[in-house]
Amino acid sequence: MHTNCILVTGAAGYIGSHTCIELLEAGYHIISLDNLSNSHSIALQKVQEITGKTFPIIEGDIRDKELLDQLFNNYKIDAVMHFAGLKAVGESVENPLIYYDNNVKGTIELLQAMQRHHVKKLVFSSSATVYGIPKEVPIDETHPLNAINPYGQTKLIIERMLQDIAQADTESRIALLRYFNPIGAHESGKIGENPSGTPNNLMPYITQVAVGKRQELSIFGDDYETVDGTGIRDYIHVVDLAKGHVKALEYLSDYKGIEAFNLGTGKGHTVLELIQTFEKVTGKKIPYKITNRRPGDSAICYANTTKAQQTLHWKAQFNIDKMCQDSWHFQTNNPNGYE
Ligand code: NAD
Ligand code: UFG
Repeated sequence: MHTNCILVTGAAGYIGSHTCIELLEAGYHIISLDNLSNSHSIALQKVQEITGKTFPIIEGDIRDKELLDQLFNNYKIDAVMHFAGLKAVGESVENPLIYYDNNVKGTIELLQAMQRHHVKKLVFSSSATVYGIPKEVPIDETHPLNAINPYGQTKLIIERMLQDIAQADTESRIALLRYFNPIGAHESGKIGENPSGTPNNLMPYITQVAVGKRQELSIFGDDYETVDGTGIRDYIHVVDLAKGHVKALEYLSDYKGIEAFNLGTGKGHTVLELIQTFEKVTGKKIPYKITNRRPGDSAICYANTTKAQQTLHWKAQFNIDKMCQDSWHFQTNNPNGYE
């Protein structure tokens, strides 16, 4: 391939697949790389179906040095969007080494390959988890950083590594995108969040209760200092999030250095508000019980999004009604996921 293209790691995953669509629709050429450890290649076929565009689909691991060299030799890669990583907080507590190996070592391999092939542009999937338990809300990018579990540590270590790389190589162009709580799905209903096993996150749990796969939702605590006692989060439509990546890439074409950006809506919603909205837009009742707080959860977490608005010229467009609608549309179209 002689055209400049974007290497997308973790492309078959939830956020990666939605971002592939936005990149293709913005006219970029992409190469997808995924080891399918937490995803299905069908997601990438659907991306091709939705956009009417084809691209190389590489099944492989970011820790495979030879494969990376092959990709950087065979394609003219201008930038890397790096989604590949493991993301289950509980699993990372039980088995931290798997997380350090996959996320940190995997990223080091990728960065070394980029260095060998003189690729300087990187958009990295970070997380609001790097703020730890928020000291104040809304959280802006200057909020102190602190990891409270091994998953969070891997994101923080990678962020710090990238800061050092940007210091050492002034030609680097790096965006650290700190996502808040992505939910929703592409409006076609063809791709969406497709967790294997029991969902860890709220929205996929809700949709699985609604579709009859699970009996009831557990709400982790109703004694927080919030309007109704349940936790507050900044839910953001995954398509808005995906568009933020395209904006970040555009920004990096004129910017040398490293910058972190919060990608959220700036609005917080409680667990009960999300359930009520879901019930309103879908007409489905979500039975729930109140259980103990989940260890490590904060009461309130939402973003100050001024920096992304002013610097990236990006702002989330969709409200939680639309997020609930699209999550449900995907779930009803794919009651058993992609399989
Ligand atoms: P996901 O699990 O759906 O996608 C990650 C993809 O990476 C999967 O397709 C998986 O198979 C692939 N992958 C994992 N390890 C790999 C490796 N070593 N080599 C190649 N491919 C590999 O998760 P997602 O929700 O799409 O998240 C994407 C990124 O965003 C992750 O880095 C995650 O930590 C980060 N993030 C996600 C959230 C969220 O709530 N979903 C929040 C903040 C940050
Ligand atoms: N919750 C429930 N019941 C559930 C699941 C979640 O009540 O079955 C509650 C949680 O207590 C929290 C809210 O719903 O108040 C959202 O929980 P999620 O697990 O969906 O999301 P978190 O905010 O806990 O975590 C997410 C990502 C993490 C990331 C973090 C900060 O999953 O990877 O945002 O960015 F670290």
